[in-house]
Amino acid sequence: MTLSKLAVVVLAAGQGTRMKSTRPKVLHQVAGRTMLDHVLEAVAGLEPERVVVVIAPDMPAVAKAVAARPDGRVRTAIQDRQLGTGHAVACAKNALTGYHGPDGSGDVLVVFGDTPLLTSATLTALCARRQAADAPDLLGLAFEPADPAQYGRFVLDDNGQVLRIVEYPDASPAERAIGLCNAGVLLGNGPVLFSLIERLGTDNAKGEYYLTDLFALASTAGHRTGVGEADPAEVLGINSRAELAAAEAVLQRRLRAEAMADGVTLVDPATTWFSADTRLGRDVTVQPNVFFGPGVVVGDDVEIRAFCHLEGATVETGAVIGPYARLRPGTVVGAGARIGNFVETKNTVLGPGAKANHLTYLGDAQVGAKANVGAGTITCNYDGFGKHLTSIGEGAFIGSNTALVAPVRIGKGAIVGAGSTITEDVAADALAVGRGPQKAHPGAAKRFRQRRESVGTGQKAGAGKKKGSSGKKKALKRRKDG
Ligand code: UD1
Ligand code: CA
Repeated sequence: MTLSKLAVVVLAAGQGTRMKSTRPKVLHQVAGRTMLDHVLEAVAGLEPERVVVVIAPDMPAVAKAVAARPDGRVRTAIQDRQLGTGHAVACAKNALTGYHGPDGSGDVLVVFGDTPLLTSATLTALCARRQAADAPDLLGLAFEPADPAQYGRFVLDDNGQVLRIVEYPDASPAERAIGLCNAGVLLGNGPVLFSLIERLGTDNAKGEYYLTDLFALASTAGHRTGVGEADPAEVLGINSRAELAAAEAVLQRRLRAEAMADGVTLVDPATTWFSADTRLGRDVTVQPNVFFGPGVVVGDDVEIRAFCHLEGATVETGAVIGPYARLRPGTVVGAGARIGNFVETKNTVLGPGAKANHLTYLGDAQVGAKANVGAGTITCNYDGFGKHLTSIGEGAFIGSNTALVAPVRIGKGAIVGAGSTITEDVAADALAVGRGPQKAHPGAAKRFRQRRESVGTGQKAGAGKKKGSSGKKKALKRRKDG
């Protein structure tokens, strides 16, 4: 269930000092996608009327990332100084002007930019709580982790009303013993939320405006408060590299489980690495140690053999990839095509049934249906300044160890002799050979061997002789002639 009048505020202005990074925390990636994009994707599932991301003034990269999003409904607000999560939400108020939230009847959902594993389903369940007849005015999201660490703790009364959230640095030993932790998600009636925010103070261990203090203010003012619950694995807050790695592990487990549930065989799931946007068809088999970078789409019945690296690539039905293949962005492998071991492709389209089975580089190339690219073929696509295209016609045969110096076109059904360096276009059905003519010298190998053997004998015979003996000089001369 989604709320018809919902605005979302995503907090992302914190410096994230514990990451020890020059990059803003929310731009660090989990499963090939920034934490911010994960959060915005989860939020998009609620179909909110407006989304505002609160950032610091020195975060043009985050503003740019937000502006580049395709949905276009997300805007940014600046928090000049990082005075706390409560202050950050207040900074979003202007960006919400014109929306029902702060002045009208709409709801406001606050999520943190550093909780990338949050799902739409959990947020939707929380929103559903606001639809009930006696719905709380303010709702938090709680979880019970094995180790509550430094999360804020929910203090509830006997009726499950939230009396307050106490932040870890401010908590007494008894409060630290509470297992119910704050996930950082807050949902409330907009006007109530913004009126309470104006009353936040900084009388706490960090001297910040804590968003979490809204609960104490709401409870004292007689507003109904409540709490929803989330799976601890979903609300992991990322403050350090170790936590980033922990989130990665959780998300990889989730993505593997989803792939298998959708009919993909992962021979060794623990060694398959996915990006959040990886799309695999039915009856795909993935052998051990395969990496899917962002932007990979794989059709039905594809086999991806061990130790492959794919990124920005589309693999169509029934193709076989690897072992040890690298598909780089712009690669399209047609239906039933084969990419074998130690083959690298970039910005290359292979037609149905085409083959490049061994030790090949195909960059900026078009390979026609059923063409055969021999072992060791290289497209020489870069001249130090620009990239040039190679086109290989349908059914063409490129002999092993061929260099195709782009721009160059090999016609349909043409054959290129092994070991060629091809600099001129080859017409359809022509046979081209571009290599030095072969010379043979009858008996020369035998003579060569005899000379070398006699040198060997000479050395033995000369052993013990004085340095600079004529035998050794002769041997040296012969070696030069050879
Ligand atoms: C916060 C919660 C804590 C909760 C935990 C869950 C508060 C006071 N504490 O603690 O109860 O258990 O998250 O992960 O809310 N931010 C701003 N501007 C600021 C400060 C923070 O935009 O001035 C943003 C940060 O970029 C971050 C989020 O707010 O995305 C949370 O801030 P952070 O400092 O990570 O809070 P925690 O100490 O983790
Ligand atoms: Ca945090």
